[in-house]
Amino acid sequence: MKKGSKVFVFMTAGIAALAGLLFGYDTGVISGAILFIKDQFKLASSAVEAVVSAVLIGAVIGAAFSGAITDRFGRKKVLIVTALLFAVGAIGASLAANVAMIVLFRLIIGVAIGVASYTAPLYISEISPPQMRGALVSLNQLMITCGIVVSYLVDYALSLGANEWRWMFGLGAIPAVILVTGMMALSESPRWLVGRNKTAEARAALARVMPQSEIDKEMRSIQKSLTAKEGSWKELLQPWIRPALVVGIALAFFQQATGINTIIYYAPTIFEFAGFGSHKVAILATVGVGIVNVLMTVVAIWFIDRLGRKPLLYIGMTGMAISLAVIGIAFNMPSITGALKMVTVLGVVFYIASFAISLGPIFWLMIAEIYPLNVRGRAMSLATVANWGFNAVVASTFLTLTEKLGKAGTFWFYAIVCAIGIAFCYLYVPETKGHSLEEIEEHLRKNKGLRSLGLSKEAK
Ligand code: BGC
Repeated sequence: MKKGSKVFVFMTAGIAALAGLLFGYDTGVISGAILFIKDQFKLASSAVEAVVSAVLIGAVIGAAFSGAITDRFGRKKVLIVTALLFAVGAIGASLAANVAMIVLFRLIIGVAIGVASYTAPLYISEISPPQMRGALVSLNQLMITCGIVVSYLVDYALSLGANEWRWMFGLGAIPAVILVTGMMALSESPRWLVGRNKTAEARAALARVMPQSEIDKEMRSIQKSLTAKEGSWKELLQPWIRPALVVGIALAFFQQATGINTIIYYAPTIFEFAGFGSHKVAILATVGVGIVNVLMTVVAIWFIDRLGRKPLLYIGMTGMAISLAVIGIAFNMPSITGALKMVTVLGVVFYIASFAISLGPIFWLMIAEIYPLNVRGRAMSLATVANWGFNAVVASTFLTLTEKLGKAGTFWFYAIVCAIGIAFCYLYVPETKGHSLEEIEEHLRKNKGLRSLGLSKEAK
């Protein structure tokens, strides 16, 4: 691929991935903002929960209808409208006069996150050449992790005045506006255009990302995968699509039920459990965790198209299971002092690093890769709804679980889920590295078992 086109593809993916930055920022920012909102409006815990969970509920709703709207209106338009929603939500929440308005605008932001979390990887996967697709789609995950760190830093920097929570929310409007403007300059997804019979526009969009000599071939293979008409919800249950559906939903489950957001949302709480007395140290340690998350996502991007998806899943999930078990052991000791404190911190850092090279990027990547084009919208949106649904369940049960199972028991529970996840990956997850989206579809249609996809390539 020519250097110019490569830079262009990276820029295109980078702009779309700003949606990920907003996803990370707007989910992360609440951890600091809520402390001030709670004081200012004298909130009871149920109201605190409503403010915190508004985004997750909105995200489930947004993800639920994102498939239908991106198939209908195109990926580009939907991303533009979503960015506008992000901006409205950020400004609205920052000016809110009462808690009900905060909940309402955070719900709107949630809807935007739900739609964006699905549309950005979809769009990027559809404009990417196969040999760079893993890295490009994972730029979105990189932006999510950057958004989380930025939100932690903003929370930290603004944690002086009682009214600063308004700025915490309001600053989210800046990347939203950049996303709107950036997306306007980009082309629509060529795959979606072909589906709408806009052949000339599709060719023009492809010409921006690949050499002329490859366009005919690419057009033919997209057209071939489109001969089947747009699939219905019922079609998702056909025996040849079902394995991909199961893999997407199961990866959503394993990404969330291995406890990632108990660390992202509750890291300061966990560090305080571990005996770090001051809020300040706990928050700083959390910033450290966020930075490790970013750096290891960069490592994942480097390896994802070289080593492949499955080796990263095995390495990362094994690391996650071990560190969860170790955190559990540390919490199981009668008192956490000196060396054990260190073990807990290292456990958390090792855990986040392992997540960042495996389930973090690979869930979002795989659901953009494994579904046939005519049902891709619906299937991906189902996997995304599942992800946000499991996220909400884990976030709202974490504190109760620590009371019922104990802190150690809770982390061991996540470790066991993770071990089951490794077996699942071995048995059912395909290796999509280096295959074009059309090849993956072709393989599914032949009904040879999704998992054999990578195997057949290696065997060649
Ligand atoms: C997950 C989020 C999580 C984030 C952390 C994403 O892939 O979907 O739930 O907060 O990674 O980096």
